Amino acid sequence: MLVPGHVLVLSGPNLAALGSREPEIYGSTTLADISTQLQTLGDTLGLSVECRQSDHEGELVGWLHEASRAGWDVVLNPAAFTHYSYAVRDACAHRTGMGSRLVEVHLSNPAARESFRRTSMVAGVATGTVAGFGADSYLLALRALAG
Ligand code: DQA
Repeated sequence: MLVPGHVLVLSGPNLAALGSREPEIYGSTTLADISTQLQTLGDTLGLSVECRQSDHEGELVGWLHEASRAGWDVVLNPAAFTHYSYAVRDACAHRTGMGSRLVEVHLSNPAARESFRRTSMVAGVATGTVAGFGADSYLLALRALAG
């Protein structure tokens, strides 16, 4: 069952350090700032937005299944798990198989970085991907779900 209007925004490992983490790559916007911007945009778009972050694969998998059960759309920045987590990939596949949407986001453009970042376990089971626009990648993903 798809519940329109609620979007779960999940951020993976090391993203709590945004703002001070390699700002030349990820920018100086903190995750709290992104969350505030998403809430504001969500109000404009008529979406309720809930943001969570975890460094733990199992916690992210649990949240993806929670979203599936509830029928929520998801915006997911899997961070480093993007490149090697079959568990996160399988949880995303389960979600999209049930008809709800999932947008993979990245602040940087992984395709333009080190070779290990060019593989995404998630891309093939996501509804779509937004990458390379810094914090705006999250906002663009939310707009995509609203449109
Ligand atoms: C990232 C890109 C990943 O390769 C990296 O491991 C991250 C952040 C991004 O948002 O650009 O932690 O997902």
